[in-house]
Amino acid sequence: MTAKPNETPPEDLLQAAWAVWENAYVPYSTYRVGAALRSESGTVYQGANIENASYGLGRCAEQSAIQAMASAGDRGFTEIVVVTDDTPPASPCGACRQVLHEFGPQATVYMVNREGVVRVASVEELLPLGFSLG
Ligand code: THU
Repeated sequence: MTAKPNETPPEDLLQAAWAVWENAYVPYSTYRVGAALRSESGTVYQGANIENASYGLGRCAEQSAIQAMASAGDRGFTEIVVVTDDTPPASPCGACRQVLHEFGPQATVYMVNREGVVRVASVEELLPLGFSLG
């Protein structure tokens, strides 16, 4: 994975990610995650992690954002910002990497925390040889 600490995430996505971070539903882990992505059509979609009393049914923030995008009819994205109050900033879990790969294998992933620490990688760098049919 490439680490480019000085690379700056897009300001609108950063603000959108922190805004939805506030809406994370995390009574079990208390670990908030916010995600905001830009679709190929230029629309910004947000997602937060939404947990469940049946723990395995919780939904990650990145997947919530992808669901919002795809539900609105968009089918590709170019960049996503993922924010956490963690050091180093969290990187998407394995399942999220595959979900991101479906709609944006070339997309840029910015991982950011409260201190402004940024890690940057493409989806393909995070998930080499991601699964696709055919
Ligand atoms: N989580 C995400 O939202 N994205 C990830 O990529 C990894 C983990 C969430 C799931 C759970 O609600 C909390 O973080 C702690 O694992």
